[in-house]
Amino acid sequence: MEPFSIDAQKCNQDELCVNVCPTGVIRMPSGADGTPVPTADFSDWCLACGHCVAVCPTEAFRLQWLGSEKCLPVEKSLRLTAQQAEQFLRSRRSIRNFKDKPVERDKLEKLLQMACYAPSAKNSQPWHWTVVEDSAEVRRLAAMVVDWMRAVIDLYPQQAKERGLLRVVAAWDAGEEKICRGAPHVIVVHGDKDYGFGAEDGALALSHLELFAPVLGLGSCWGGYFYSAVNLHPPLFKALGLPADHRAFGAVMVGYPVFRYQRLPQRNKIRVVWR
Ligand SMILES: Cc1cc2nc3c(=O)[nH]c(=O)nc-3n(C[C@H](O)[C@H](O)[C@H](O)COP(=O)(O)O)c2cc1C
Repeated sequence: MEPFSIDAQKCNQDELCVNVCPTGVIRMPSGADGTPVPTADFSDWCLACGHCVAVCPTEAFRLQWLGSEKCLPVEKSLRLTAQQAEQFLRSRRSIRNFKDKPVERDKLEKLLQMACYAPSAKNSQPWHWTVVEDSAEVRRLAAMVVDWMRAVIDLYPQQAKERGLLRVVAAWDAGEEKICRGAPHVIVVHGDKDYGFGAEDGALALSHLELFAPVLGLGSCWGGYFYSAVNLHPPLFKALGLPADHRAFGAVMVGYPVFRYQRLPQRNKIRVVWR
C-alpha cells in the first residue's frame, strides 16, 4: 500500500508538500504533470511529522495514518499579536510558593499534552512521564534528595559548595524545604537512557509545559536538584518507579501559585556576534 494518497481533483500541484518535507521523501513525478509521489526509501526516512498534511491548503494530501480531518485548522483569529506574545513569553516565572491544594488530574494531563507539542530530534517524541500526584510522596522524595546531598557533601565537598548544597541541607535541617518548594506535585520526564538528545528534548518539552502552566492558573519551577538526584541517587530513581533502562531528562514542580507577579523583570542584554 502507498504511504500516502493525493486527491488529484483537489491537488493544485503547488509542490508545498515536496518542499516542506524535512527528509525529502516526497517528490514530483519525473517528466510529466502529475501529483507528488513517495521516494523509494519513504518508509526508511519519513519522520511522521505530519508537515505534508498540515501544509496542504486544499486538503488533498493524506498519509496512510493521518488525514486533514485529524489536524485542527490554524485559526487566524487566535493568532497572538507581537505585544501579546512578548508579554506571554516574558511573564512566565519560576514559581516557588505553592498553595496547599492539589492540581486536578485533567489539568496535569493537559500540561503533558501541551508539552508533547515541543520539537524533538527527528520527531522522536521520546518522552515518558511520571507524575507524583500525592503531596506526601513529594515530601518523601525530597527527603531522599537531601540524603543524596549529604552524601555529595561528604564525598565532593568542593562540588557541593559550588552547587549550593550546604545551604539547601541546612535549610532542610531548619525545617525549610527548598528541593520541591512545598509543591504538591513533581513531574519527571524520562526515556531511553541511551537516547542522545534526551536532555534537549526533555528540556524543550518542560519548557512548553512551563509556558502553558500559567494559562491554567498554575505555576511551575524546574527541579534542578531533584532532576540531578534522580539520575545519581539510585534509591530515588527506584522510588519513582522509573524503568531500569531509562534516565530522567528533566523534572518540574507544579502547583497553584500563592503570589502574582506585577512586573516583567529585566534579563541580561543579548550577547551576540553578527557576522
Ligand atoms: C536546568 C534548570 C534547573 C533549575 N533548578 C532549580 C531548582 O532546583 N530550584 C529552583 O528553585 N529553581 C530552579 N531553576 C529555576 C531558575 O532558578 C530560574 O529559571 C531563574 O532564576 C530565572 O527565573 P524565571 O524562571 O522566573 O525567569 C532551574 C532552572 C533551570 C533551567
